[in-house]
Amino acid sequence: MGTEDMQGTLPDQLKNLAPLYRKGEGILPQKGVPFVFDHRAMQEYPHIGIFGGSGSGKSFGMRVILEELMEKRIPTLIFDPHYEMSFNTPFEGMGEEAAKKYASNTEILTVGRETGVNFEDLTSDDLASLLKAAGGNFTEGMDNALKAIHRPKDSFISFSQKLDYCIRLAEKEEETRAEIRKNYGENSSFEKMIDNMARQAGHPSSLRGISWRLHRLNREGIFQKDISAILNALLRRRLTVIRGPIWLLTVFSAYLIRKLYGMRRDYIDALQRGEPPADKFPPFVIVTDEAHNFARKGTEFVSPARNIFREVAQEGRKYGVFLILATQRPALLDETITAQLNTKIIFRTVRASDIDVIREETDISGEEAGRLPYLPSGTAFVSSAIVGRTVSVRIRCARTQAPRSLNPFAELDRDFGGTDAEFFKVISEFLPLHFGQITLILSEIENALDRTVTVDEVQASLESLAAEGKLEKSEGPFGPTYQAVNE
Ligand SMILES: Nc1ncnc2c1ncn2[C@@H]1O[C@H](COP(=O)(O)OP(=O)(O)O)[C@@H](O)[C@H]1O
Ligand SMILES: [Mg+2]
Repeated sequence: MGTEDMQGTLPDQLKNLAPLYRKGEGILPQKGVPFVFDHRAMQEYPHIGIFGGSGSGKSFGMRVILEELMEKRIPTLIFDPHYEMSFNTPFEGMGEEAAKKYASNTEILTVGRETGVNFEDLTSDDLASLLKAAGGNFTEGMDNALKAIHRPKDSFISFSQKLDYCIRLAEKEEETRAEIRKNYGENSSFEKMIDNMARQAGHPSSLRGISWRLHRLNREGIFQKDISAILNALLRRRLTVIRGPIWLLTVFSAYLIRKLYGMRRDYIDALQRGEPPADKFPPFVIVTDEAHNFARKGTEFVSPARNIFREVAQEGRKYGVFLILATQRPALLDETITAQLNTKIIFRTVRASDIDVIREETDISGEEAGRLPYLPSGTAFVSSAIVGRTVSVRIRCARTQAPRSLNPFAELDRDFGGTDAEFFKVISEFLPLHFGQITLILSEIENALDRTVTVDEVQASLESLAAEGKLEKSEGPFGPTYQAVNE
């Protein structure tokens, strides 16, 4: 920004790189000198922070960066708690090619549906952090109990069975012992093991605490899948989008990043030692919004992923693993990580505590900080070790957009009101209709509506049409008859 008058003297390759967008006006041509972020410089200055309040342009900016990463086919892992990162819808007024290309380079996976945790892989610490994040106050007692019971290579079944026996042993000893003996024989080593574990595990309330957290995670489907789809996508240099509710993503990310980062490190370390590496694994970028939920500052709540994010922030450069972290609350992001974000893109920020952190962590001037609360959406300061000083930029127009979410009132008419209207049209053909005749015309109604319906549904719809005054209902000795109004 501020370079508009140089537009005429720009060399051709710098023209029209960055069309702009303004609400109400649509897409506008590039103005001034584009600020081009050289991704290769990330080798030296690896990580990026994106800060700004709600509506300031973070998601939009992140989308633009992700589009560029896809252009370069850089393997990227993005956690998407808002279910907004898909790239198959062209931005209005933009051509379709980009969206087509990006769509085929994107893999969208939902935790618990297409991806999850391989239980056998979990260390006791991994499992503890999963359970911690599953909610509530995870006590020291639970941590001890978990470590008494969990063994390396435990499956979900073997672990939950041991847990269950320990709980029941405390509650109904005779019955439980009898069951164990029936299944494993008198004096079995299994019984001795359970006895031992139950003794070490302490109070059964700790065990029950573990049990409900374990089943909460299991209900999400997290233990039914593994990360092979993610590995495949990254190896094929795709943008890999991981979706899920935020609490589950923060847990899953801890496990996943530790795993992927470990694979990359093993690969590079083996290469450097001159050994044949076991498995090839590419450099990659990790992106997330709501980063303060993944790596929160302070000690009262330790985010499960904080340590691994810290490790990547401090050492990732060596292995070609880079972070792009967006948050609306930089004041809540772990300081060790914030300090490692060599490039910071700062959008509109209003909250004083966040502005204070931005001032401490960047070289923006007091005058620039004073402008932060008033920046229009899509305008930002870039404070970067790569550039060496703060520059003001406007983020280019994205080539794609999140699939438009329907206005909820339009949705009501389309998806809820509409069914009745459609049904009304179909049912009109069969009027007057006696209640007992519904079964006879059911298949015809199904054909006309192109979906299956039950007698109950048809009657319920008839009832609501009658209640709205769109049909006339008359009660007879053998049930109601419905007919057209004024017939
Ligand atoms: N670079 C930009 N150019 C034009 N409009 C933008 C730009 N960035 C954001 N906007 C506008 O601001 C709105 C909010 O941006 P968004 O990225 O969703 O905010 P955030 O993620 O920070 O809450 C967008 O829907 C868009 O209308
Ligand atoms: Mg957003």
